Amino acid sequence: MPFFDPTRPAYREDPYPSLARLRREEPVHFSRQLQAWVLTSYEHCARVLQDDGTFSSEIDVATGSAGKAFAERRRAAPLGDVAVLSNSDPPAHTRLRSVVSRAFTPRALEAMRPRVEARITELLDEAGDTLEVVNGLAAPLVTSIILEQIGVPAEDHEAFRGLTIGIMLAHSGDPARLPAARKAHGDLIAMVERWQRDRGVAETSVLGSILAAPDNEAVTADEMLMLLINIALSGNGATINGIGNAILALAQNPEALDAFARGPEPFPAAIDELLRYDSPAHIVSRVAREPQSLGGRNVRAGDVLHVVLGAANRDPARFPDPDSIDLAREDNRHLVFGYAAHFCLGAPLARIQIESAVRALLARYGRFRVAEVVRGDSILMRGPTRLTILRAPEV
Ligand code: HEM
Repeated sequence: MPFFDPTRPAYREDPYPSLARLRREEPVHFSRQLQAWVLTSYEHCARVLQDDGTFSSEIDVATGSAGKAFAERRRAAPLGDVAVLSNSDPPAHTRLRSVVSRAFTPRALEAMRPRVEARITELLDEAGDTLEVVNGLAAPLVTSIILEQIGVPAEDHEAFRGLTIGIMLAHSGDPARLPAARKAHGDLIAMVERWQRDRGVAETSVLGSILAAPDNEAVTADEMLMLLINIALSGNGATINGIGNAILALAQNPEALDAFARGPEPFPAAIDELLRYDSPAHIVSRVAREPQSLGGRNVRAGDVLHVVLGAANRDPARFPDPDSIDLAREDNRHLVFGYAAHFCLGAPLARIQIESAVRALLARYGRFRVAEVVRGDSILMRGPTRLTILRAPEV
């Protein structure tokens, strides 16, 4: 399928025509370029995500040089041999997820709404007649909210981020990063001990939920650190991209912007439709544990599968008129937040942040227009890296 080349700038701009063609012509496609299967139909994507017995989230299961090299590099780094929530299978996944799930009930996350709104007001008070949404609003909002939810005191946000990045950089390869990562690991342990000693930890936070876990669910000290890091990272990029994509989609579709402005408050169905229309987490990956037939193709044990959520969410067999925005769409069971065992823990918080951001922009900038947009170049995540909006012209 030579037309399918996700590294081309045109794909980055608008991947949907080439994903639609792939879905029509070969919905289970082996890409030599990516050395992975690419799944574009809703049916196949949902099936793979649901069957976590056959399709593993542990990338180390992958055969071939990529999977093995990744596993070796990771193991050499601090926390490299610890199970990671988003990349583990049962029973480790079930245990890790149950330890943090108390911090992610819709009620616990709804309690964050006033904090989200206050932070948005603070950020917009610093802005002028134009706003660069990604760096001026989305990134600082999302980063501070997730760290608050984790239980990191405000004065330690910067330092915590620095330490987690220091550790995670060592997971992707370069041995030169190992000494700094080892120091960061030690500093992170000391930081968490200091929080517990000096000020106690909010019970409703992720850290509070882990510390309150009954013994049979308890995690090791390193697993606890990895949970904090993994949750801090899992939510960030996708929510920043989700805010950017939603605002861009509304600015480019004035009818939808009007419908949103006139719609109910809160309007979670509208946020879900905007996320379906341009999904921030575009691809999630799995590894086949055993040979499997999928869409008439033979997937071998150890093969990597890229589940293209963005393509599944535009599948006409599942969503009538999938390429248009219908804020009143019925039966909108998209795969934006994944499906089944690994379904996104932070989905309610993501919806709150995206909706609050759009509402605040409408209040400050009226029916805003886009002045500049620069797309990111990851094929796994989709969203602008810069998005400047202007106030609506006076009428
Ligand atoms: C628009 C924003 C977001 C999108 C599109 C998104 C998307 C996803 C997806 C697709 C998955 C499943 C990955 C897989 O199956 O391999 C996932 C998992 C996860 N998400 Fe989100 N997410 C968002 C926001 C958040 C936020 C705000 C948080 C934290 C507060 C968060 C925390 C997590 C965690 C911890 C997991 C792993 C769950 C598990 O493996 O059991 N996400 N997310």
